[in-house]
Amino acid sequence: MPIDEITKQVSDRYARAASTGEQMCCPTSYDMANLQSFIPEEVLKISYGCGTPAGLKTVSPGETVLDIGSGGGIDCFEASRLVGPTGHVIGIDMTDTMLAIARKNAPIVAANLGYPTSNVEFRKGTADKMPVIDGAVDLIISNCVINLAPDKRKVFREMFRIAKPGGRFTISDIVADQPVPQYLLHDAEKWGDCLSGALTLTDYVAGMLGAGFLGIHLFKSSPWRAIDGIHFFSVTLTGYKLPASAPGSAIRYATLRGPFSRVVDELGTTYFRGIPQPITPDAVCLLSQAPLASHFILSSDPLWLDRVDDRWTAVYPEDAPCLWQGHFVMLAGPFVEAADDDHHVYRRGEPLEICSKTLKVLEADCYAPHFAIINRAAQNVNGEAVTRSPDGGCC
Ligand SMILES: C[S@@+](CC[C@H](N)C(=O)[O-])C[C@H]1O[C@@H](n2cnc3c(N)ncnc32)[C@H](O)[C@@H]1O
Repeated sequence: MPIDEITKQVSDRYARAASTGEQMCCPTSYDMANLQSFIPEEVLKISYGCGTPAGLKTVSPGETVLDIGSGGGIDCFEASRLVGPTGHVIGIDMTDTMLAIARKNAPIVAANLGYPTSNVEFRKGTADKMPVIDGAVDLIISNCVINLAPDKRKVFREMFRIAKPGGRFTISDIVADQPVPQYLLHDAEKWGDCLSGALTLTDYVAGMLGAGFLGIHLFKSSPWRAIDGIHFFSVTLTGYKLPASAPGSAIRYATLRGPFSRVVDELGTTYFRGIPQPITPDAVCLLSQAPLASHFILSSDPLWLDRVDDRWTAVYPEDAPCLWQGHFVMLAGPFVEAADDDHHVYRRGEPLEICSKTLKVLEADCYAPHFAIINRAAQNVNGEAVTRSPDGGCC
């Protein structure tokens, strides 16, 4: 399908849904009772997201938030409340019916919040050419939209352009565990269902990285649908447009604490647990961001850690046979590559089959936030337990 045709069909589909109030897309975990206290039902019933804008938890009063594909405005109105009357919220959408509903409800939400005027505006535009000036936005959010855009790289570049230095994004979207094949790619219905346009997690993150964002990491993931063996799942990802590195910092070294035994960051530097690694001012800036900061000790002099140090973190697998039950994990940042203590090397976005013993390790609190997990087994698994390999690694 040509790009213009995809955009038109998607817009028609959402215009139809907004007029009929049709239920679409995926489960979210909004606190509906809370939202109902200030957002009209007309908006809530056409909420078509696939996550919740978790990034809003990081919003401070007075900030500027922009929502790509704002639809009826649910996330913009929640942002409006959080930035307060001195903050500003911009919703961008290409569909007139959606914009009309959102604009009609903006003054109602403002009155419910006790604001003298609405701090939300809705602008017509497409995600790959947003009507917003450079460097204007503190936080970019989006909920189940970028998969619908035909040229995602352009969208990621636009996001980077409009973000302030030091700005950030939190995006919920649908991704797939493998490239979507041509026969699905040309299915207009499935584009509108947020399936055909889904990128793999690897391509999604590579697109963000290519645009200039760093520190890209997972906030949440949940399985959604499997079609012809392709697993579609919802991810909420966060990342940063880093500010220019502050000159004069005394920090010169980073020591990896764990739980990974080795990681490669997005600037290409490899860190081994416990061994101080000289770092550049750009790396200081990157490693100071959450959640990277919790993995490292930054210091002005080389600092070595050993296993008996409280700051050393590790999770070792049980000494038991492996049972394979169909689980695959995908590292979802903030590292491009990472190794555990049992010979596994995880590369960002690439599904790696793991046994139940490794699953247990990766479900530990310190590992869990970094992985999306899917189960590719279509039926009950009856495989027998397998002994560990002679070198002691997971089989
Ligand atoms: C799945 S709905 C999500 C709406 C809203 N974010 C929510 O959570 O309810 C997708 C919305 O994005 C808009 N949209 C889709 N592709 C777009 C694009 N390329 N540029 C701008 N808006 C787009 C549609 O018009 C629709 O309102």
